[in-house]
Amino acid sequence: MADKEGLKVAKDYSVDVPFANQGSFHVKGANNLDWGMKKRLSNIFDPKTGNTVMFAFDHGYFMGSTAGLERLDLVIPKLMSHVDVLMGTRGALRSCVPPECGKAIALRVTSGSSMLNDDLSHEVNAVDLEDAVRMNADCMAVQTFIGADGQLSSIDNLSQMINAGLRHSIPTMGVVAVGKQMERTDRFFKLATRILAEMGANIIKTYYCEKFEEVVAGCPVPLVVAGGKKLPENEALTLAYKAISGGARGLDMGRNIFQSEHPVEMAEAIRKVVHEGFNDKEAYEFYQDAIHG
Ligand code: 5RP
Repeated sequence: MADKEGLKVAKDYSVDVPFANQGSFHVKGANNLDWGMKKRLSNIFDPKTGNTVMFAFDHGYFMGSTAGLERLDLVIPKLMSHVDVLMGTRGALRSCVPPECGKAIALRVTSGSSMLNDDLSHEVNAVDLEDAVRMNADCMAVQTFIGADGQLSSIDNLSQMINAGLRHSIPTMGVVAVGKQMERTDRFFKLATRILAEMGANIIKTYYCEKFEEVVAGCPVPLVVAGGKKLPENEALTLAYKAISGGARGLDMGRNIFQSEHPVEMAEAIRKVVHEGFNDKEAYEFYQDAIHG
């Protein structure tokens, strides 16, 4: 391990220079992976646009029931035809999602937190690889806590799932958590996303921040941006537009879809940004036209 003395702050990200090892495959950093990995990543990232709209409803794994997700059995079937990927727990998927859904699955495999804890940074790998195979998961989502007390155990969780996933060609998505003691700065996200990618994660879920394009350039695998807390729809679409413009290869939105008054129209407006090149204003106009008929 290099010593920390004399560390020079990274600054030249050559953000205008395309990823050099893209090769012929549309997913960043996956060019050297095997057929099965590429097939699953292609289920997630549209080969035509290279992007994805993930619908996240895994909040219950630590929040229990949350506004907009009181009835998984009613919410998910209504939305699944409007998104590319379903991100959920095995409990939600098996109990509330028809297996004939025809959607990619981002399977939440870690757990151990609850809203009753102060320190959410200690989780375990609750789902084993065999069940991810049974679920035909297209990636396994592992929560990581860089800079928190649970850093070592969460990196171990990530590494164990990457090791297992490689044995069965199932990609792993490293999820960057932002706890109280973590700062929503480019400095933090550059560190956290790069650590997860260096551990071998094939996709990183993170948050949008200033200098986001540098976070993207410094990470050799695709970034998907979480929506975060519910925003007014126009602001959420601006977040989506900034993320995609900054180089994210998708959005993983939960609350900004299922807590919207018009979740279907909101999901479709996000698709316009992610897959059809709409800017935020155009997408918001689409949303308003869709809800007013
Ligand atoms: C919840 C999660 C969600 O997958 C992620 O935060 C995206 O959901 P939202 O857009 O509501 O933040 O990790 O535990």
